[in-house]
Amino acid sequence: MEAVVRPAKRLKGALTVPGDKSISHRALMLGALAQGTSVVRGLAPGRDVRSTARCLRALGVPVALANDNSGHDVAVIEGRGLHGLRAPPGPLDAGNSGTTLRLLAGILAGQPFASVLTGDASLKKRPMARVAEPLRRMGALIDYLEGEGRAPLRVRGPREGRLRAIEHEPPVPSAQVKSCVLLAGLYAEGVTVVRESSPTRDHTERLLARLGAPLDGRGREVRLRGPVERLEPFELRVPGDPSSAAFFVAAAALLPGSELLLRHVGVNPTRTGFLDALRRMGAPIELLDEREVGGEPVADVLVRGAPALRGLELDGAEVPRLIDELPLLAVVATRAEGVTVIRGAKELRVKETDRIRAVALNLRRLGARVEERPDGFVIEGPQALRGGRVEGFGDHRVVMAFAVAGLVARGETVIEGAEWADVSYPQFFEALERVVER
Ligand code: S3P
Repeated sequence: MEAVVRPAKRLKGALTVPGDKSISHRALMLGALAQGTSVVRGLAPGRDVRSTARCLRALGVPVALANDNSGHDVAVIEGRGLHGLRAPPGPLDAGNSGTTLRLLAGILAGQPFASVLTGDASLKKRPMARVAEPLRRMGALIDYLEGEGRAPLRVRGPREGRLRAIEHEPPVPSAQVKSCVLLAGLYAEGVTVVRESSPTRDHTERLLARLGAPLDGRGREVRLRGPVERLEPFELRVPGDPSSAAFFVAAAALLPGSELLLRHVGVNPTRTGFLDALRRMGAPIELLDEREVGGEPVADVLVRGAPALRGLELDGAEVPRLIDELPLLAVVATRAEGVTVIRGAKELRVKETDRIRAVALNLRRLGARVEERPDGFVIEGPQALRGGRVEGFGDHRVVMAFAVAGLVARGETVIEGAEWADVSYPQFFEALERVVER
């Protein structure tokens, strides 16, 4: 599907973005392992979270998805307990979702049966040794069924005894790896420790602690004492996804005269790197009514159009707090005065697509000059973007970042493969039209 994006004057009004994708995956998985029924409101509506629900059903966990009367997705999960999963009838298909595959690998490493985890063409190219290596050290049996270090993989717990706890320092900070090891740690004898060079999103830790798991430490070191016998069922309202809100924040900041309120957005400090970066660039962003909902910080975010933005330098230590927003930041950088340098973001090359390459190619198609580096970008602005034809590269974040580019470009921008936005935000283009003024 192609999307045609026309230039906008400004963004006005108020919007509620869909529930956080990262939290939604974790809520479904931990709900499945809890002892009893959990209810999750405001679940992320995209295809990725559906993939998690489908895999959990195949593991014998009833997961019902419905709409409440305000149009939000609600999940009711009949948790089977930590030892209540059953062997799936066939391969578990994580679709496009790295979080589904890597986190489930941690859970499945603790099971007495074998499961095969697979995914779509993009996911089968992404690196899986980063989870297989620590899980093997814990005693899990992992086989690659096609290519070394890639999905599909077969995962099962040790033939005798339990997993053993390990201390793990991932070479690249990754919330998926941390969460995978902690989930396996639920089944392991001893204290599982994950130590990271820069802290990544901590949603797994927050939810595990809320469900009664003996977990301590936040930030760079987390410890979990296993084996855990029981997780309590829960009710949760998922905050709006800051990574989805980011597209609107950026568009409003880029268009002078904008004033946009984004309601009920997650502002967990491990996720607010993009808001901080835009503020450093000169965007007026306010957090209103900061509160805690279901163990996560939440606020309403008010963004106004900035008269001018300035470039910024960003290094590796900051990357985990805005990893998914970097394609969008590159788009914003073209419109900012001065040089923007993004370093230490090599991980972007192994996301749903090679996001450094995809963003550089698309920006050039819109007439921008971009220096592509192995670990990031250098972009000098301000540059005028002209409408043109760009590709989605089968990557939801690339599609939505270039919708924002289309709003500030001169002329029409056509995005090929725009349907990929469905992975995290099925109603994205409709929501954009509701707040855009032309
Ligand atoms: C996620 C972690 C990040 C992020 C992804 C979601 C998560 O991936 O890019 O979109 O929910 O844990 P990495 O852990 O690979 O950095």
